[in-house]
Formats: sequence, structure tokens, C-alpha cells
Amino acid sequence: MTESLQTDVLVVGGGAAGLALTLQLAESYRVTLVAKSSLTEGSSLYAQGGIASVGNNDNDSFDSHIEDTITAGAGLCHRNVVEAVVKNGPEALRWLAEMGVPFSCNSEDQDQPSYHLTREGGHSSRRVFHAADTTGKAISSTLEARVREHRNVTLLEHHIAVDLITSEKLGLPGNNRCLGLYTLNKNSGKVKSISSRFIVLATGGASKVYLYTSNPDTSTGDGMAMAWRAGCRIANMEFIQFHPTCLYHPQARTFLISEALRGEGARLLLPDGTAFMQQHHERAELAPRDVVARAIDYEMKRAGIDCVYLDISHKPVEFIKKHFPTIYQRCFDFGIDISKDPIPVVPAAHYTCGGIMTDLNGVSDLPNLYAVGECAFTGLHGANRLASNSLLECIVFAHAAARHINQQRDKESPALVDLPPWDESRVSDADEQVVVSHNWDELRHFMWDYVGIVRTNKRLERAEHRVNLLIEEIRDYYANFVIDNDLIELRNLVLVAALIIESAKQRKESRGLHFTRDYPEMDSSKPAQDTVLSPDRETRLAALASV
Ligand code: FAD
Ligand code: SIN
Repeated sequence: MTESLQTDVLVVGGGAAGLALTLQLAESYRVTLVAKSSLTEGSSLYAQGGIASVGNNDNDSFDSHIEDTITAGAGLCHRNVVEAVVKNGPEALRWLAEMGVPFSCNSEDQDQPSYHLTREGGHSSRRVFHAADTTGKAISSTLEARVREHRNVTLLEHHIAVDLITSEKLGLPGNNRCLGLYTLNKNSGKVKSISSRFIVLATGGASKVYLYTSNPDTSTGDGMAMAWRAGCRIANMEFIQFHPTCLYHPQARTFLISEALRGEGARLLLPDGTAFMQQHHERAELAPRDVVARAIDYEMKRAGIDCVYLDISHKPVEFIKKHFPTIYQRCFDFGIDISKDPIPVVPAAHYTCGGIMTDLNGVSDLPNLYAVGECAFTGLHGANRLASNSLLECIVFAHAAARHINQQRDKESPALVDLPPWDESRVSDADEQVVVSHNWDELRHFMWDYVGIVRTNKRLERAEHRVNLLIEEIRDYYANFVIDNDLIELRNLVLVAALIIESAKQRKESRGLHFTRDYPEMDSSKPAQDTVLSPDRETRLAALASV
């Protein structure tokens, strides 16, 4: 028998977005939070630089933060969304501080804290709140402690959501709506159905689709793939942000070297010590991220080198240890003393600007289904996200979605529905696990080679051909064998890869993070448009992905 549960609100994901939303709703609802690893394992935990908001800097203003965001977004930010997020920034920061997040201060006076604000690429002034260089850990652990002690919260860790359950899939009458989901307990191998009045996807991004990434293993685009299969539109998937500076070292699996180093004057150098960023952009090291990542990619290919170098050795060692203790220590462990030596760095996939389309309340196309955080497309980031705007978006939208769900209390809440058990009657144990691991590797390699920082029509066609073969193979495998974590993630990743490739093919220009040699200029002949993929229109892709 499949176990089944019922809850008022089902949150999938224990990152900044999922935790903030859970805390906002647990006062009024029974909340069940599902996380596929330990509760907070996800990108939020590793965030370094900080969270952007207008703060105690007299030279800053809402207008300036709005304009910086829109400039980075290269004509595709939705101004109303940018304004809403920026103007709600101080309230989001106040809430985090009230929860107990220990942001770095200039002074020790706790009654009147003067926060230390750092600066990152694309920001015209200092406005990034941070907790030294482990802002994400400070936010995650503070919110986690409160979630764990809350009596209205049920935690299901090491449970991976498999698919959403909709009224249409069950053949129920009335408008299609979300009723809950299936989730696999990774320890027992059993699938549960969870019925819920409201379902919130807070599953993070999809950067694991690339061979090199700054992201942890959780970023496999599960929420985006589940939402697509449930009939939601997905937008702007071609805009994948490559962070310019990840540590290049054979033993360092993924380790980010925060942009905040460049904010404090670190220079990018070629192996012979020559600085090169000034030739690429007037803001040099503090140019928007797409410009810096492309410049590094260009210099590496031009000079045939494996990495470039980031040098902060001009700063006193005490300053470096105070502001960047984790980066200092991690590099030191690898034999690099960053107070003396330049750091070898390369770009890596970092952030998914596109995602599940939502409105200003995090409401998706499917009634009762919300999406918040990196898995969502809200219109904030446009063609390129401004540094440290993601954590801000997570908190602001978590609060907005919570407000919207709370308002439903006053109306009639959606009813709970008895869900059918997971059907395992036609599957058997997998015979060849190697199929899954081989396909993982193949996918991540060709996405890096063909759909990376610089694209061409030919590369995209090659990638499309390969991804279609993988989708067919995995569809067959999924239909016939018992599911496990790797298969679920791979099934989602190939679908997300297909959405990225399709979006990139549809954009016949270069803009922000999408650069193609076949159309190297921005198309100014018509108004800029989002790339919106709909399962109703993209029937080929929807059919390919349907199991
Ligand atoms: P995540 O924090 O990624 O959380 C996703 C959650 O969903 C995880 O708990 C995961 O286990 C769970 N999950 C996923 N799929 C499933 C499933 N199928 N079933 C159950 N659970 C699932 N942004 C900034 O603004 N400032 C920064 O300084 C910054 N630094 C960064 C540094 C690094 C190294 C990285 C990788 C990112 C950084 N970013 C930064 C980006 C930012 O951290 C993320 O965009 C943001 O934290 C995403 O939060 P989230 O809650 O949406 O997702
Ligand atoms: C960083 O610290 O460089 C990451 C900031 C971000 O991704 O917003």
C-alpha cells in the first residue's frame, strides 16, 4: 500500500525561499516541508556575497537599485516587478535581522547596528548586506532552527518529489488544478502521495545540467520539470548565468570565489600578470557578470590557457581574513595563500534566470500551485541577474506568496482530495544502472560544449539532436524500472536541457547571458520579448516529456 498524507500547505524545498515561506505560514496552517537531501542542502546554503537592498548608505536610493537591476537585465526586466522587489528589500532585510541572521556590522552597537555593505559587479554603490563570506549559511541555519522547532511544521527530509498530481491527470471534472504530489522516501524506497490545499515549489535552479557549476548536487531543475509536465509555462530558459570566478583546482569540486573580492578591488589577470578587463568594459572587474564571464572565456580560448587569476593580495592579510574567512581558508587548504598569491579561476554555470512563470504573488498557471525562489520566473532578472538579487527575490516572493495563501483563509480554501496510490505494478528493478550514470555524463558534457557561454546555431542543433535521443531513452527506462533519486533527477535534467535548447534556438539575437555567434548583436528593431514556452504550444516537447 502507498502511504498517503494530507496537509494544508506543502512546500518543496528547504532553501531560503522554502524556509522563509514555511515560517510565514506556519502560524496559520499545517505546513509539510519536503527536501530531497538534508533540510538546507541547496544553493542558499553556499551563498557567499550577500543580499542586495538599499540600506544605510546615504549615496544609495531605490531608483539606483532599480536602474542597476534593469541595466544588468538588458531590456527584459519587468519594471513593475523590479520596483516591487527593490522597494520591499528593506522589509525583507529587517525580517531576516529580526529572525536573528547575524549580518556583518561596522560597529558593535547592537541597538543601532550600522551594517557593513559590500559591493558587487553591476551595482553602482555599496548595498550588499552579508555575513562575512558565508551569508547563505547564516540565513539558512537561522531560519532552519526556527522551522525545526515549529509545532505546525512536519519535515520530510531525504524525500524527493517525483511529480505533481493534477485534477486533469486524475480525470476529475472542473478546471485543472494542483492537488498534491508523489514523493519518494530515499531511505525506504517507498513512494508517498501527499494531498494538499496549496503546493509551493521552492526547488532552486538547474545548473547541474552543465558539466562545470558552482551549484550543489540538488540543482537539477526538478520543480521546473514537474511544473512543465503539469501544464505550466516556462520562460527565458536560455539565460543561464555563468559565474566568472570558480576556483580552478583538481581537488576542488565546486567552490565559488565571491564577486565581493572584486568589489574590494581584486583584479583579473592573465598568467603573465597582465590585467585584461579594462579592454572588455569600462567598469573592468565590476562589469556585469555576463561581460566578465565572456571576457574570461575569450581570453582563455585566445591564449589557450586553462584558467585566469584573481588577485586580492594588495589587501592586508587581516582585512582578507576578516571579510573572506571561508575563501581564505579553503584556498589555503589547497595550498594557495590568497594574501600573497593570485587565485586560479574559471567560469561555471551558476544561476538559472528562467523558470516557472508566476505573478507578483508567486502564483503559477496551475490553480493552487505556487513557485518561489530560483525555480520561478518572476520577471525580476531579465536577460541577466544582478549579483545578490537572488536571495532578495527568495525572501520578497516567499513573503508575497505567504500573504496570498493567508488571504485564501478568508475565502474558501481548496478541498483536500483522496489521491490514488503510486502504481508500481508494471515496473521491475533496473537491470543496468550504468545507463543512468552514462546519460548524466553525456548530458552535462554536451550542454557545456554546445549550449555554454558562446553558442551557435550548429551547436544548438547538435545539442537538440542528442537531448531528444536521451529523452526517448530515459522515458523508456522510467516507464519500465523502479525509480530512484538519480533517475528522477536525470529525467528532470534532460527535460530542462531541452527547454534551454529550445529557448536558445528561438532567440535570434545576442542579449544579456545569451550570446550566439550567428546573431552577435542585440535586435533593437522590435521591442524585447521574453521567450515563453508553453506545453500547449510546444506539443513536440510536451509529448516527448510525457510519462
Ligand atoms: P535552493 O537554496 O537551491 O533550495 C532548493 C531546495 O529544494 C533544496 O532544499 C533542495 O534539496 C530542494 N529540492 C529540489 N528539488 C527537490 C525535489 N524534487 N524534492 C524535494 N526537494 C527538492 N545569490 C545571492 O543573491 N547572493 C549570493 O551571495 C549568492 N551566492 C551564491 C553562491 C553560490 C555558491 C551559489 C550556488 C549560488 C549563489 N547565489 C547567490 C544564488 C542563490 O544562492 C540561489 O539562487 C538561491 O539561494 C536559491 O534559493 P532557493 O530557495 O530558490 O533554492
Ligand atoms: C558571489 O558571491 O559572487 C555570488 C553572488 C551572487 O550570485 O549573487
